[in-house]
Amino acid sequence: MSTSKRVVPFFNYPHVYKQYENEINKAINNVCNRGAFILQKDLEEFEENLANYTGAKYAIGVANGTDALIIANRAAGISEGDEVIFSSHTYIATAASIYFAGGIPVPVECQEDHMISPESVRKAITSKTKAIMPTQLNGRTCDMDSLNKIAEENGLHIIEDAAQGLGSKFNGKQAGTFGLAGTISFYPAKNLGSFGDGGAILTSDLAMYEKMMQLRDHGRNKDGLVVTWGLNSRLDNLQAAILNLKLAYYKNEIERRREIASIYQTNLGSITEIKLPPSPNSDTIHFDVFQNYEIEAERRDELKKYLFERGIGTIIQWAGKTVHQFKDLKFNVSLPFTENMIAKSLMLPMNTSLTDEDVLYVCEIVNSFYNN
Ligand SMILES: Cc1ncc(COP(=O)(O)O)c(C=O)c1O
Repeated sequence: MSTSKRVVPFFNYPHVYKQYENEINKAINNVCNRGAFILQKDLEEFEENLANYTGAKYAIGVANGTDALIIANRAAGISEGDEVIFSSHTYIATAASIYFAGGIPVPVECQEDHMISPESVRKAITSKTKAIMPTQLNGRTCDMDSLNKIAEENGLHIIEDAAQGLGSKFNGKQAGTFGLAGTISFYPAKNLGSFGDGGAILTSDLAMYEKMMQLRDHGRNKDGLVVTWGLNSRLDNLQAAILNLKLAYYKNEIERRREIASIYQTNLGSITEIKLPPSPNSDTIHFDVFQNYEIEAERRDELKKYLFERGIGTIIQWAGKTVHQFKDLKFNVSLPFTENMIAKSLMLPMNTSLTDEDVLYVCEIVNSFYNN
């Protein structure tokens, strides 16, 4: 039974539109009146703006973040029998993209901050390893110094799954710009969300750029001639126009998320039964954008229920199983650190529709759960 009238949903989908309603309506009208739906100037402008924002030389708009990964793998030459190492604490799409390129997905452990463990990566390298695919999870960038070093020493590519990482930084450099390619998702609940599916690939390598431009458009070159097998995976021009508009406000969105994380940190930091993500100002190496606020909690399922009964929505990432734990996929590996982490993992509300009062209410209820 709810003890309060306040409701704090985990995510507020209508807010994604309401927030910029008038400008979005204008942008949609403009695109529709021009009849500019596929591969038009809004997409080109968005690609240029996204490249400028991230610091990548090129950005390519594609249909979704999963296709972005598949295309990046294919362009990087991942093929039959090639092993690609990734953190099991990621969305299934990371592993599926390796599988669909013909490769073998090799899951490894995450570490205390929930990002891929470089030590675990090193141990998983074999003569068949071709690439490391770090997920820039929850709006945080992995320890890219260590990963780059491992990649260089072993002649491996880095392909970043930065679906959740747009704008996050490691040593001042943005997620998605470290490897041969980095991919972004614009799924509506992402920090930069489109009104449907959408994705992008970042690269600073001209040959990769040219290959990926062909792969997303039926394998066609600039003259429309087919030069390879390709997909139909273009970011819709309408989505690009909306994303262009939202990208202009992106810095403010990130700042608000970081403020919310600070409120959580201040008000939950002393509860010994929970472990919070690194605070927004915990070091000068990471700049986190808090796509999610993933805590580890003792008595996690009870806490989730307690919050739900008091109007607060929470989510357990990946329905409570990391990639190697999905039995039907037949991974034969045990990753105790990751398994222990996901058994405690819980995501608290984190989005820009939240008021300070909403966040404080969540904190009050979490405190009351552990103080009772
Ligand atoms: C870590 C990660 N990788 C890949 C994806 C796939 O992106 P999309 O849903 O746009 O295909 C997502 C998004 O859901 C994600 O969170």
